[in-house]
Amino acid sequence: MLPIDPLDADLVSAWIAMQNAAVAHDMPGDETVSPAHQRLRLLLHPASVAVERYAARVDGLVVGGYELVLFLKDNQHLANLELQVHPEHRRRGVGSALLAHAEARAAAHGRDTVLTGVIDSVDGAAPVDHSGQAFAAARGYKNVDNEIHRRNDLFAVEDDDLARLYVEAWEKAAGYELVQWVNHAPEDLVEGIAAMRARMYTDPPMGEELDIRPAVYDAERVRDEERVRADRGELQLAAAVRHVESGEIAGLTDLLVWPGQEDHAGQNDTIVDPAHRGHRLGTILKIANQRLLRSYRPRLRYVHTWNAEVNSHMIAINEAVGYRPLCRDIDVQKKLA
Ligand SMILES: CC(C)(COP(=O)(O)OP(=O)(O)OC[C@H]1O[C@@H](n2cnc3c(N)ncnc32)[C@H](O)[C@@H]1OP(=O)(O)O)[C@@H](O)C(=O)NCCC(=O)NCCS
Repeated sequence: MLPIDPLDADLVSAWIAMQNAAVAHDMPGDETVSPAHQRLRLLLHPASVAVERYAARVDGLVVGGYELVLFLKDNQHLANLELQVHPEHRRRGVGSALLAHAEARAAAHGRDTVLTGVIDSVDGAAPVDHSGQAFAAARGYKNVDNEIHRRNDLFAVEDDDLARLYVEAWEKAAGYELVQWVNHAPEDLVEGIAAMRARMYTDPPMGEELDIRPAVYDAERVRDEERVRADRGELQLAAAVRHVESGEIAGLTDLLVWPGQEDHAGQNDTIVDPAHRGHRLGTILKIANQRLLRSYRPRLRYVHTWNAEVNSHMIAINEAVGYRPLCRDIDVQKKLA
């Protein structure tokens, strides 16, 4: 087990190749790991987290690895884990060794909860590999929430349908205005964005046992995240709706495009303040931001999003703008003794 030194170019390349072998095997067609982005992620992360990454090497080959994210400003009980084993080296105890190491590192940082994810097939989409589910269950992890991973094929989206939906939505949204930006939010919105980001930890429906606690967000954290994204070459396309009379932010959404990844983008937060729900603001945000993405990356084909399986409002909006299920992401959690 060795820590991944960002300056060890061979180790980093082998680690990325191992991850991409796992993606190709477990979920063909899913977004691959961008080597450029992964290298930048090794070097830079927001001040609100600490990150540890280890590789498992056997006879000189990288056969697996993990990334452990430790929240520093809130959720200090929690360690978020991503762990993979190369498909040709499974069922030999590598995953168990990595997991035991990760749990020990989490405990050494005073964390008592480890949260990770495993995938499950859904009707109507290509089957995915189910090893993670069996592994997590065998190692004492409990299913605590179900999310559906959806993907939008922008090449198949009917622009006329979206244009109609957008016009209809605005008919219910009198008194609101749209603001969009790239990477750096307008100064007068930053406090409101911080409040919205914090709400993402409490508002979306969540499994009862999923132990995610309220976040501590302020303008400085928002700005720090923006700086890190920009330094990592990530393109953040964001949209907010503002209630004109009060000046309050009523809703927020953002999309992320990774450096070195021109085929896939990811949906980040989408939220509408409860006081402003029922005005189609979610639909407005998603369509407006999808358009912004198309103007920046006309050849980018896929956008990915994850929603709690029970989040019917968000899912209805996503289905309306073209997202379709790809797989189920099961959140699995373990309380360390
Ligand atoms: C899940 C994963 C990490 C397991 O790695 P691994 O090196 O094969 O795991 P281990 O050999 O240590 O397996 C430990 C136990 O998990 C269970 N298990 C693992 N894979 C399994 C499978 N495909 N089917 C049934 N049980 C399985 C078994 O009980 C196994 O013990 P056994 O081999 O003595 O029966 C690997 O399949 C993987 O990378 N999957 C994709 C990413 C992922 O799902 N990560 C999981 C995050 S928790």
